[in-house]
Amino acid sequence: MAKKTPLSEVTLAARRGLPEEFRIILADYPRQSWPDHRDFNGLAAFWLDRHLNFRHVLAVLSGDVQLRLDRKISRSDHAQRLQRVGSGFLGDLIGHHQIEDQTYFPELARLEPRIARGFDMLDGDHHDLHALIDRFARGANEVLGAASDPKAHEAAARFLADITVFERMLLRHLTDEEDLVLPVVLRHRVG
Ligand SMILES: [Fe+2]
Ligand SMILES: [Fe+2]
Repeated sequence: MAKKTPLSEVTLAARRGLPEEFRIILADYPRQSWPDHRDFNGLAAFWLDRHLNFRHVLAVLSGDVQLRLDRKISRSDHAQRLQRVGSGFLGDLIGHHQIEDQTYFPELARLEPRIARGFDMLDGDHHDLHALIDRFARGANEVLGAASDPKAHEAAARFLADITVFERMLLRHLTDEEDLVLPVVLRHRVG
């Protein structure tokens, strides 16, 4: 049996994948087998689709800032897109974390107590991500509220650096969460 790793050693910033001790259900339900599972087209597909959407929207937001820095879109067009897409993204992500923490994680941990600590780890990720969400919101507001074009350009460059960190952390979280959650959902036919 894999040894228990202190959760403080597998924080979102420190991880390179789902820790070995949480891969015991995944071993029987490897990622490539998920789409062929008879219950895939329920909660499992829905969960993956939500994650795919978060990945996509964050890539769009990051691409937009780059376009603005390259002056390939106007400041007002960028502001409009950032306001609309950015606020929708943050709201959806916060709502997604809430339903995971309050509903799904406790239920899945109860079904698979052997990997219950994995859900605590993911809950911890959400706290780390929320600090980045706050930073994202501040950065976006700085871009939107800049008093001059040079100030807006500086704010956009800082915002892009923040988004890059956010993207790396969010992608790590989404992938590890899928590797922990999907095998339990499929095995116990949840949803
Ligand atoms: Fe999550
Ligand atoms: Fe999620």
